[in-house]
Amino acid sequence: MTLVDINAKIPNNVDLAGDRRLQRALESWQPKFIRWWEELGPVAHKTDPVYLRTAISVGREGWANFGHVSMPDYRWGIFLSEPEANRKIAFGDHKGDDVWQEVPGEYRADLRRLIVVQGDTEPASVEQQRQLCLTAPSLYDMRNLFQVNVEEGRHLWAMVYLLHGYFGRDGRDEADEMLERHSGDADHPRILGAFNEETPDWLSFFMFTYFTDRDGKYQLASLRESAFDPLSRTCEFMLKEEAHHMFVGATGIGRVIQRTLDLMREHDTEDVHSHGGINLDVVQKYMNFHYAVSLDLFGAETSTNAANYFAGGLKGRFQEEQREDDHVLKELFRMVPEVTDLAIDEREVTQLAALNETLRDDYSEDCQKGVDRWNRLISDAGVDFEMRLPFVGFNRNVGTFAGRRVSPDGQLISETEWQANVGRWLPTESDRAYVQSLMVGVTEPGKMAGWVAAPTTGIHQQPVDFEYVKT
Ligand SMILES: [Fe+2]
Ligand SMILES: [Fe+2]
Repeated sequence: MTLVDINAKIPNNVDLAGDRRLQRALESWQPKFIRWWEELGPVAHKTDPVYLRTAISVGREGWANFGHVSMPDYRWGIFLSEPEANRKIAFGDHKGDDVWQEVPGEYRADLRRLIVVQGDTEPASVEQQRQLCLTAPSLYDMRNLFQVNVEEGRHLWAMVYLLHGYFGRDGRDEADEMLERHSGDADHPRILGAFNEETPDWLSFFMFTYFTDRDGKYQLASLRESAFDPLSRTCEFMLKEEAHHMFVGATGIGRVIQRTLDLMREHDTEDVHSHGGINLDVVQKYMNFHYAVSLDLFGAETSTNAANYFAGGLKGRFQEEQREDDHVLKELFRMVPEVTDLAIDEREVTQLAALNETLRDDYSEDCQKGVDRWNRLISDAGVDFEMRLPFVGFNRNVGTFAGRRVSPDGQLISETEWQANVGRWLPTESDRAYVQSLMVGVTEPGKMAGWVAAPTTGIHQQPVDFEYVKT
């Protein structure tokens, strides 16, 4: 069991006190992080006590405590999950070798890049969501937003620890740049496109936490397989926190749908906009948008980088060790989509070349589970409507589908046809304006905005009307 130093200036279970140089380096990064939080973290309720979960340990049980904390006092710590004795590399050219406790010179640049790209998304999402606290539909929701925000901040700490601890001077420079790039900044944008868009309303936030945080889950799960053991252990622990973010999305979208169904029944109509709900077809359009943007995050169908990362042992597949194949993938094949001017076709490539597509498939399968649950709510209400994930090629900007027009049901269509229908498939200006018009902050304990149903249970056995944020 690694010892947790919970009272240190930077809580940790990596024995920071035993490495003065590293400790000093991180302690000098800490005030820059706090300054960033104050400037680009949540725009309001900055010092209000919030009922937050704080990671304090890495064991299976009781790894976190709950209590009211003012966010600047949140104890952002560095936690790696327990080491696995005699862990071996599970895939790629070094399969069967001992995992690495230090970064091999030949993989230094690639590992740094992987860590920087992952790390960059963490503060980006805090920046994207900073205005949302003004329009939280309840204190329960505001608390969840802040919980997600502080944990994304901790995920940045997790990546910065690796950069400082294992990449010397270059790593320290990269850590500083994490706070210099900003979401949507024209001169210093965040690395990935999806992380430069503002999250303008709570329906978008729920979609983001369901679809885009889930991309994070799949990236982290692949990095958890890494031969670089500190990265693996870091990601393992981050995944624990990430589960709650996706819960916020899954239940959030479910509550929006539930409220719509209630209003439909109450007013005996499919159009609930005059009653302050969000029509099911609008929810579907938001889903189409966020799903497609998130699919792009997995990259092109075939990728030399991804193949090299895998062969090198840097990044595996989702649940690598549970797969029954050779874990080398050079002589195993699969089909990937390929679009021509005439048709959506397929071609056969090595599984090694197609790792992005394989991870995207795993992700899509996972996304479908929530959609099935939402559809059960709809059918239980006796309503004839089915939510559907659009076809993988719909509205994509990365890979073979980029620049093509593809309908949600998977037909290659003309620009004219696209323009004639896009308003039925993606949120229109007026859909967005309508959703925006519903965004009114509700800060009375237990009260909910009119467009979303109350959650069925509160957080950590507290009641729904608990004062989750003392405003
Ligand atoms: Fe995260
Ligand atoms: Fe997250």
